[in-house]
Amino acid sequence: METRTFYPETGIERVRRLIEGQSVRYYVLTLGCQQNEADSERIRGMAEAMGYAPAAEPEEASLIIVNTCAIRRHAELKALSIVGRFKAIKTERPETVIGICGCMAAEPHMVEHIKKNFHFVTFTLEPNRLFRLPELVATALMEQRRSFVLGEDDGRIAEGLPIRRTSDHRAYVSIMYGCNNFCSYCIVPYVRGRERSRESAAVLAECRALIENGVKEITLLGQNVNSYCSDMSFAALISAIAQMEGDFLIRFMTSHPKDVSDELIAAMKKYKGKIAPCFHLPLQAGSDRILKAMNRTYNTEHYLSIAKKLREAVPEIVLTTDIIVAFPGETEEDFLGTLKIVEEVGFDMIFSFIFSPREGTKAAKMENTITEEEKNDRMARLLAMQKEIALKKNLPYLDRTERVLVDDNAREGEGNYIGRTAGGKLVRFTDTKNRIGEFISVKITKATPFDLFGEAVD
Ligand code: SAH
Ligand code: SF4
Ligand code: F3S
Repeated sequence: METRTFYPETGIERVRRLIEGQSVRYYVLTLGCQQNEADSERIRGMAEAMGYAPAAEPEEASLIIVNTCAIRRHAELKALSIVGRFKAIKTERPETVIGICGCMAAEPHMVEHIKKNFHFVTFTLEPNRLFRLPELVATALMEQRRSFVLGEDDGRIAEGLPIRRTSDHRAYVSIMYGCNNFCSYCIVPYVRGRERSRESAAVLAECRALIENGVKEITLLGQNVNSYCSDMSFAALISAIAQMEGDFLIRFMTSHPKDVSDELIAAMKKYKGKIAPCFHLPLQAGSDRILKAMNRTYNTEHYLSIAKKLREAVPEIVLTTDIIVAFPGETEEDFLGTLKIVEEVGFDMIFSFIFSPREGTKAAKMENTITEEEKNDRMARLLAMQKEIALKKNLPYLDRTERVLVDDNAREGEGNYIGRTAGGKLVRFTDTKNRIGEFISVKITKATPFDLFGEAVD
């Protein structure tokens, strides 16, 4: 795959000059997945470079951005309801610039809807043209004109955008964008475009700088990181990062089962202390017939063989997955196949979703006769089974001492903290000192299906 990188002229300076001397603030609201979190860090980076300061509330902001998700109907409705609330701000302060970024801004019918019915929205901007944000702000400020950037993706990667990261000790690093897989239910390839990988030198330089700045955890991001393709494979890239000096952990997401290589599994074994012992491997369904209709291009046997290889290479590995319930045509028997695999693999955690038809995808045109009651019933059975499995997975942690990277205690109150184990399990614990951003030892004193609890030890 050819990588075409460019360093765009963003127009940041132009906005800087336009708002010079004013005390202006920005507010970014992020929905959706880690790709959007990472994009929001670029949006914040550009906003601050333009001269905006962060606002605690949208009411204080003169630049409001909603970074949207289109993965399910529910995500879209949520975004529209949030955007709707900003109408009052625009009425009160007509100079407020309100922009919609993210995956919904790449759906033609949605952009049309916003153009017609959300007159207070200043612009929409599709994700692959994020670098145009300052220019759209300038247009709004100078000409009071609305803009709708859609269908401009030329397959290139814009490098060099400023990034304002939300955490000092955890960082996302995008390694690729887009997706070529066209799973029949999924909107992502339509809204994020074709797969493209960043140059390895750029990824490695970014990781090196983060580690030198004290970042303790790097998560490599892409819709399908295993098909990363530049002058090196994903396994080679992650190995090169793992060999960097320093005390840090590397995570990655997401992986498609068709592309998980033996080379990657070997790297996870070889660099155990550096590559986190966890793997998010979306199964989607446990029926070969449904997997085929989903265009997932692997079968259950192949999936199970990867899970087995991962467990052999890294016995303590934490396995998580995504499952879609009630895909069109899913019979009770197909669903029982899903339950069977969920039980057989024994996932630490699953993210399960009821199928949501997405306009423009193949599956949206498939006949779906599953009743609402059946959908909810299947979902409830899956969750009940997973709750038992998750507890079984967490109980062995009792009395163990785990190495935990401490996050924050914003919502927890004094002496209470949240952190994650190397495997990515959430731990709620008490500590006498504030050690946010450090790896510490935590003795686990209680285990529930979804959380571990403990006390820090010195
Ligand atoms: N790139 C990732 C998935 C990103 S979307 C991958 O390939 O695994 C995250 C999850 O949302 C998917 O794994 C899938 O389980 C779910 N999902 C995607 N489209 C959906 C739809 N139309 N309805 C319900 N769930 C969906
Ligand atoms: Fe969607 Fe499939 Fe691509 Fe994942 S691999 S983003 S589910 S099309
Ligand atoms: Fe949603 Fe776009 Fe991510 S559709 S899940 S924000 S890639």
